[in-house]
Amino acid sequence: MLQLCLSWLGLGPVAASPWLLLLLVGASWLLARVLAWTYTFYDNCRRLQCFPQPPKQNWFWGHQGLVTPTEEGMKTLTQLVTTYPQGFKLWLGPTFPLLILCHPDIIRPITSASAAVAPKDMIFYGFLKPWLGDGLLLSGGDKWSRHRRMLTPAFHFNILKPYMKIFNKSVNIMHDKWQRLASEGSARLDMFEHISLMTLDSLQKCVFSFESNCQEKPSEYIAAILELSAFVEKRNQQILLHTDFLYYLTPDGQRFRRACHLVHDFTDAVIQERRRTLPTQGIDDFLKNKAKSKTLDFIDVLLLSKDEDGKELSDEDIRAEADTFMFEGHDTTASGLSWVLYHLAKHPEYQEQCRQEVQELLKDREPIEIEWDDLAQLPFLTMCIKESLRLHPPVPVISRCCTQDIVLPDGRVIPKGAHSLRGRSLLGSKREHQGEVTSGFYSLLGRAQKLHRAGVRHG
Ligand code: HEM
Repeated sequence: MLQLCLSWLGLGPVAASPWLLLLLVGASWLLARVLAWTYTFYDNCRRLQCFPQPPKQNWFWGHQGLVTPTEEGMKTLTQLVTTYPQGFKLWLGPTFPLLILCHPDIIRPITSASAAVAPKDMIFYGFLKPWLGDGLLLSGGDKWSRHRRMLTPAFHFNILKPYMKIFNKSVNIMHDKWQRLASEGSARLDMFEHISLMTLDSLQKCVFSFESNCQEKPSEYIAAILELSAFVEKRNQQILLHTDFLYYLTPDGQRFRRACHLVHDFTDAVIQERRRTLPTQGIDDFLKNKAKSKTLDFIDVLLLSKDEDGKELSDEDIRAEADTFMFEGHDTTASGLSWVLYHLAKHPEYQEQCRQEVQELLKDREPIEIEWDDLAQLPFLTMCIKESLRLHPPVPVISRCCTQDIVLPDGRVIPKGAHSLRGRSLLGSKREHQGEVTSGFYSLLGRAQKLHRAGVRHG
């Protein structure tokens, strides 16, 4: 039997079994890890001291609950940005500091850093992973660059132009519904809900060429997407459910998983069906014919795209990109449009000016439809949309985690590993708007849905 000398601990020699040795090695490793983590944590705290922070609510929860997803929360955040216009630090729990950067000069070093130095922060985006996989929003490094290049043709105006017909049709369905509801006596409508269905309807047609009629009758697939978006937002607020193990034990976690399966099955089925009909040669002619007879949808573009080496996207990649577009495309545009309506409702004189501009453009036209070239002929409406997006951006913040120290213009340093949220729209915007535009940061992944609803109702 091995003799282990523990005289340095004041103990005599003890018989060391392999298990005891293993235990000692394990305990030393654990101790070393804890010490290293503690050192890094205190070092980071020291380095982050130069960023101001509001008083904590509680030593353990830190600033959790300080900014709630309510109008009261919006006001609190507006106040915070007024008090700390450059940026500030919040604690999400006892060991998780988060930098909120507000001023354009402070944000710039991160926005101009490479994707390797300031990659997307998976702590905030990670809850979307089981749903969106490695699509553009969540992927990084070489995969992201390759896919980004491969997807560029999807935004060519020749591909986008025919979508105008789809948008017109989806909007007409929504308007008819509003007219019907108004004539039946509905004095108030939750615009965000209706507009979300309209954007989802449009996307389902543009991405999959699928008509679910979701604006008129319930659709399982669309309900699952709405449910998934809501679950991700809700989980974001519940710090105890941030670990997958606990989350998937809860009823919400299980429903999230079921909804993911449903959405994936739908996308997979479309991909498989389309692969069966895709020609193996003469793709150029196929594309020309298809573009003539029918809109080329996003799945077509993904199936046909190749990288520089002639490699195609896998089915899994295609699914991730299509699911990402369904998510990214519906919530952003629905909230943007809801806020435009809110602002026009608050400013009837500008509303009237927009109406006159559109009516002038469409006079004597049959059918009464906005076409692609009209978009450049509506300067006042365009300005109103842009101003609304500036005041209430659908994605008020984006989140990054730095892999290297980043030096700010005032000499302060964001230490490697720090998580930062940036009020995206603050780039170039005036200070008096800072409170408003950052006010949705707590619902980062829910794209401030609650704020939109609150805003539109109060309009
Ligand atoms: C008003 C409408 C929209 C706004 C305000 C908006 C905003 C944003 C922002 C801020 C990001 C960057 C996120 C980050 O870097 O962390 C982003 C990324 C993205 N958006 Fe949008 N978006 C809008 C509409 C759309 C639409 C309609 C689609 C697709 C149909 C879309 C697809 C994407 C995709 C795929 C990404 C990831 C891009 C990448 O990382 O390469 N977005 N969007």
